Amino acid sequence: MILDQLSQPIVQAPMAGGVSTPALAAAVSNAGGLGFLAAGYRTADAVREQIATTRTLTAEPFGINIFVPDTSTVDGEALATYRERLAAEARRYRVELADPADDDDAWAAKLALVQEEQVPVVSFTFGCPDPTVLTELREAGCTTVVTVTSAGEALTAAAAGADALCVQGTEAGGHRGTFHNTDPVDDTALLPLLRKVSAAVTVPLIAAGGLSGGRDVAAVLVAGARAAQLGTMFLACPEAGTNPVHRASLPGDRPTAVTRAFTGRPARGLVNRFLVEHTAAAPAAYPHIHHLTKVLRQAGDPEAMSLWAGQAHEFARTAPAADVVRDLGAGARAALTETALRWSAG
Ligand SMILES: Cc1cc2nc3c(=O)[nH]c(=O)nc-3n(C[C@H](O)[C@H](O)[C@H](O)COP(=O)(O)O)c2cc1C
Repeated sequence: MILDQLSQPIVQAPMAGGVSTPALAAAVSNAGGLGFLAAGYRTADAVREQIATTRTLTAEPFGINIFVPDTSTVDGEALATYRERLAAEARRYRVELADPADDDDAWAAKLALVQEEQVPVVSFTFGCPDPTVLTELREAGCTTVVTVTSAGEALTAAAAGADALCVQGTEAGGHRGTFHNTDPVDDTALLPLLRKVSAAVTVPLIAAGGLSGGRDVAAVLVAGARAAQLGTMFLACPEAGTNPVHRASLPGDRPTAVTRAFTGRPARGLVNRFLVEHTAAAPAAYPHIHHLTKVLRQAGDPEAMSLWAGQAHEFARTAPAADVVRDLGAGARAALTETALRWSAG
């Protein structure tokens, strides 16, 4: 299992929207962790280019994350009402709202690509692929990871044949990886979720959500995870493609909240005006609302952008990604030793 071969038990979370660059993924993999590219919102050709660039920067294993298409039915009337509501936002930023289109984010083309390229690790979010997909990937030499947010989802993913699971607690920045876009949105925190998932399945686990330092990494390893996946802690690294407005918003103890306002799927971001004003009205309609709000999010106003961030965002450092990986690993080791000593001395 690839997770046991890492010299640092650190996975850099895939972050769509331009954050996960080849430079970031390669820096993390070269430092002994597992770097990830994010295929979401990109064309298959653009992902192919990113794979090629990453391979020029590292000989170490890396991963790619793919969005599983959302097949839930969308309430057309609720979506139209939400579009009308956003007309005032469009006037405010002097932009034209796009049509709230549906798409499958080039699912088939991306699956074919990762098989052809034999990408070492392929992870999924927003659902669990069919067992045949996971088998084909394994036969192509890819280790498969499915993101889960409940013990029920973990059972489904393990039964489908996933090689490992990414267990995502509610603390996590960005989209919840939940299989279904329905209410109520599960808000189980990472530690109780790790316990529930460990009790349900025996596949290796990667823990994600709100982790920000070596002590947190040690905590999830003790709780049974083979590795810790961090996203927000890499947002401020120079190698990340994070939008400058997003980057600048990370310091400070601003609260975060889960919202469908920006994309139509629950995601955690820093609380800003748009999130406060539209969360209650936003229907479950993904990726329709993602397309609808794109021009608003691109206007550059921090009060109208999706500032995805986990609950510990203020600890994001501007240090190179390799330093972040090494410090997390060293901090986890030190915390484990210190805790064992303190315990035995007591
Ligand atoms: C800006 C941003 C973008 C993200 N994009 C993705 C993505 O494309 N695919 C995915 O599986 N998870 C994505 N996530 C969620 C991460 O995989 C992970 O669960 C999360 O970052 C962990 O919480 P943390 O940010 O508190 O470390 C994203 C997170 C952030 C902050």
